[in-house]
Amino acid sequence: MCGIVGVVGRGEAAPLLLDALRRLEYRGYDSAGIATLVGGGIDRRRAEGKLGNLAGVLERNALPGTTGIGHTRWATHGAPTERNAHPHATTRVAVVHNGIIENHAELRTELESQGALFETETDTETFVRLLDRLLADGLEPVAAFGAALKRVHGAFALAAVFAGHPRLLLGARQGAPLAVGFGEGEMFLGSDALALAPLTRRIAYLEEGDWVVVTEEGARFFDVDGAAVERTVVQTAVSGAVVGKGNYRHFMEKELHEHPAVLGDTLRQYLDPRSQEVRLPRLPFDPARVPRLTLTACGSAFLAAHVGRYWIEGLARIPCDADVASELRYRDPPLPDGGAAILVSQSGETADTMAALKLLKAGGQQVLSIVNVPESTMARASDAALLTVAGPEVGVASTKAFTAQLAVLACLAIGFARARGKMTPQEEARLTQALVAVPGHAAEVLEQDARIRELAAEVAKARDVLFLGRGSLYPIALEGALKLKEISYIHAEGYAAGEMKHGPIALIDSNVPVIALCPSGPLFEKTASNLQEAAARGGRIMAFTDAAGAAALGRFAEHVVVLPDADPFAAPILYTIPVQLLAYHVAVLKGTDVDQPRNLAKSVTVE
Ligand code: F6R
Repeated sequence: MCGIVGVVGRGEAAPLLLDALRRLEYRGYDSAGIATLVGGGIDRRRAEGKLGNLAGVLERNALPGTTGIGHTRWATHGAPTERNAHPHATTRVAVVHNGIIENHAELRTELESQGALFETETDTETFVRLLDRLLADGLEPVAAFGAALKRVHGAFALAAVFAGHPRLLLGARQGAPLAVGFGEGEMFLGSDALALAPLTRRIAYLEEGDWVVVTEEGARFFDVDGAAVERTVVQTAVSGAVVGKGNYRHFMEKELHEHPAVLGDTLRQYLDPRSQEVRLPRLPFDPARVPRLTLTACGSAFLAAHVGRYWIEGLARIPCDADVASELRYRDPPLPDGGAAILVSQSGETADTMAALKLLKAGGQQVLSIVNVPESTMARASDAALLTVAGPEVGVASTKAFTAQLAVLACLAIGFARARGKMTPQEEARLTQALVAVPGHAAEVLEQDARIRELAAEVAKARDVLFLGRGSLYPIALEGALKLKEISYIHAEGYAAGEMKHGPIALIDSNVPVIALCPSGPLFEKTASNLQEAAARGGRIMAFTDAAGAAALGRFAEHVVVLPDADPFAAPILYTIPVQLLAYHVAVLKGTDVDQPRNLAKSVTVE
């Protein structure tokens, strides 16, 4: 999603802004731009595509000035062209914007009727034209900005600079994050601490509805009613060190190979291998008494929550709902007195999950979030946050953060089961041992890389692919399909294996690979029967299983990848790795942009 940076600086703004935009690249974008204040006016450079293009434009046509704003744009309203790229500007003001101004059409009609001439179809330009009119009417920038904010609806973050005000930068936050960085004689704005980390570690986050007046001397904060407010300056722990790919071709490949370390680091936070017990920090609700849990998230994080539901219901016997946040936020479900919710998010900024958080809190639920970014909005807005220790995840497609989310959910399920008296110490010891073995097993799964690459060569030829799983591996089948779709652009469906004969079996012919996730265990026979049904109709079965499963499937599966023998409890974590690897290798063979697939953003801060 869009990234925002701003500076009232001491040196040239453009190189600093370009550098900060590079640290926001991971969010996903399709054009970029920078505007600075030059000689009493505004100048800007913009380019379609990657930041390299903008860097080229700046090289050919330098942009002086020490105060400026920069932007990476993920298109919502209007194609990803140079013309639609931010900053949008008039002679009086330039603006960068993340999010959506929902009443843009109505504002555009009003402004056009007053003579405004629009250059683009973007919602952002309505805010620029509105500010421009207020400035033309004689308002000073701060007053004009405050008045314009009152007219716009939606979820957004904004930053603006004004001609003739060389040391002034204004910012606003309503539903999308914005942070102020305090430097020595210079000040910054950024979408997150990562953008600002090498510039300063002293950060203040805007709260919902806040806006801020930034000058080289500091920042003055105002709340939604325009009242002056204080916002705490914190010392961020975020490192500004640029995360590299090491010897890997892609961030995704590197992140896939980090599974064992990340799983070990995350599990160590929540279980004690010596006592074979789960050790949870203080939770905002009592798992022994909570009547119902709502699990919610988006995309892959939702699929982790979906597995969490199987685990928590199965072990702790707590009734759970698992719902995608974009549905939950409008479904208005009845929420129980004393209920609680678990939110899952890598970024901790996803707009729909944040909206669900608000709904759940308004409905009296205690909210626990599982997040990877400790200083994210979600971590700060939840009653408590459990961290995944995955480190920065740069590849747009989630890999290590997803399995780390599963690791935390597995520990929660065990901890809840113990709290409710549903688990003996022996059972807890067995399950914690199963989790302790996961990092080692993950390393063994990665040793199958070459075998999975062979499989990928087959899958890359397909137009459609089916992923099947049962029980807690059903969400992993969905994850396999999602991953393949998003990075290789091959159409894929994930299905509960038992559902296949209720529809998708009609798709099966010799061109459709059927990828089965079927470790031996209680549901193995059932899945094997479903696979036989597919094979009988010419389906090409490719199975991920263990040694015992391989012996049983060998007769009719075209390819079998043998994974380590593991406790069925840990299977969702382990079986995720080969489906992610498969998607990766297929994408490499197809030549797609693996780390930044088309149309996708890492942090989805709009609805
Ligand atoms: C898929 C993927 C996305 C995210 C989703 C939620 O590979 O990465 O589906 O899982 O956008 O993002 P977070 O976890 O940041 O809330």
